[in-house]
Amino acid sequence: MRRYLVAGNWKMNSTLESARALAKALSSRFTQDETGFEVLVCPPYPYLVPVGEILRDSAVGLGAQNCYFEPPGAFTGEVAVPMLKDVGCRYVILGHSERRHVLGETDQLINKKVRAALEGELAVILCVGELLSERASGMTDRVLDTQMAGGLAGVVDAHLEHLVIAYEPVWAIGTGMTASTEQAQAAHAHLRKWLTDRYNAHVASRMRILYGGSVKGDNAEALLRQPDVDGALVGGASLKPETFLPIVEAAARLTRT
Ligand code: PGA
Repeated sequence: MRRYLVAGNWKMNSTLESARALAKALSSRFTQDETGFEVLVCPPYPYLVPVGEILRDSAVGLGAQNCYFEPPGAFTGEVAVPMLKDVGCRYVILGHSERRHVLGETDQLINKKVRAALEGELAVILCVGELLSERASGMTDRVLDTQMAGGLAGVVDAHLEHLVIAYEPVWAIGTGMTASTEQAQAAHAHLRKWLTDRYNAHVASRMRILYGGSVKGDNAEALLRQPDVDGALVGGASLKPETFLPIVEAAARLTRT
């Protein structure tokens, strides 16, 4: 069965002090490996090391919010996959809507990063999602298909074990406008069907598909109950223990045994 993954995307937030405090609160709550679900935090680059040190003996994993596709070398300002592995990252978030729409990342660039991370044995959370205008004009499925095909071009079956998809409707991110459970389930089922068609039913049935976009303690359980929702990618609510823990606890309650 697919294990729930609840991932906190801290984005460009926190200070060294608040990052440490949040890591301490989470590491003391999740002290040993919970077999039924997985918790992950993705702090900004400068805080990966201090946060990773605090999380080392806990069940909370460490992830990064971006990476570059080239091996270490002359790429001023970029961070390579082996560096993230070196400081203890298990995951990297790629294709996030803020990187697509604010930083201008294309499916081609995202694909290079996805392949470099997977080839470097760093698990990828690949984000896909439509704009409000695309949903309004009935384009949601087409946008998802394009982003999946672009992001996963050339990705072979052998690497899929380390891939997680996150469905994040752009209009729901940071807006408080969560997708309805029906909208989320429909998009997740569509993505799973895409995986069946592009790869096979076995791959599709094992792939975790997270929902992201204004997930909070009071809507997490209903979303996580959807048959094709396998976890949450949480932005704003992941910045404080009192807002993040209820989401993780919803996953713990629902953990499928
Ligand atoms: P949000 O962000 O929870 O603040 O809507 C989600 C995300 O961008 O991953």
